[in-house]
Amino acid sequence: MVEDSLSTTSITSKLETRFIGQRVIYYPRVTSTNEIAKQEAQRGAVEGTVVIADEQTAGKGRLKRVWLSPKGSIALSIILRPSVVYLPFLIMVSSLAVVHSIEAVTGLKSQLRWPNDVLVNGKKVAGILIENNVRGDIVNYAVIGIGVNINLKLSDFPEILPAATSLSDELGRNMSRLALIRRLLVEIEKLYLALSTGGSIYQEWQDNLVTLGRRVHIKSGKTDYEGIAESVAGDGSLLLRHPDGSLTKIVAGDVTLRD
Ligand code: BTN
Repeated sequence: MVEDSLSTTSITSKLETRFIGQRVIYYPRVTSTNEIAKQEAQRGAVEGTVVIADEQTAGKGRLKRVWLSPKGSIALSIILRPSVVYLPFLIMVSSLAVVHSIEAVTGLKSQLRWPNDVLVNGKKVAGILIENNVRGDIVNYAVIGIGVNINLKLSDFPEILPAATSLSDELGRNMSRLALIRRLLVEIEKLYLALSTGGSIYQEWQDNLVTLGRRVHIKSGKTDYEGIAESVAGDGSLLLRHPDGSLTKIVAGDVTLRD
């Protein structure tokens, strides 16, 4: 049996970060860690504060969807206060940090589906929801919310997309959620700090996107697009080549691979 209970101290104790995860607010059960993190940020929480829960009762996904996070998964949200120029890179920072930490702790290789779904063997294992509060050029806060299916038997959750998986289903055994959380916090901080020293994570993010070069269907707001996902721009948007040769820049949407 893998020791797997979470607490503020088990997460923060000897955590090798400067600020991310040095303050942790832990709940066994909460509505949505992103909602709590936004309230904390509004009240002036220090940068790097993490809100984490074993279970969410009103977890939020991208594009106003529901995100199920039952026991065995993790739901965590990180409060950051970056300069406005770094906002487009938070998608890259957070999704690559999930890829790095999954590989470091489990040995499993994962891939990214634009913009920031994390897949293992083609199935979604983690999702990321970033919510920013910006006025003009001033970022009040950014909240990075990450949900990872860890010790879950997906067959017990038919309501979760059939296209989902969990790390335990992929590994064939349960694993330590604590180890993954602590590594994730270290990886996020490393990539986030690299932004300000001019390091480029754009190339690595692009290299991990399974979406590129593939025929895709994209739902963006009320519009549906078909085409080849040609490349991503430096601001993280996707460039879609249509059959007539024209190009559309897509800022947010849902991608289905067609081939
Ligand atoms: C998606 O793939 O649609 C994004 C899912 C994001 C889920 C995480 S779990 C922690 C944080 N709190 C939330 O309510 N949502 C995010």
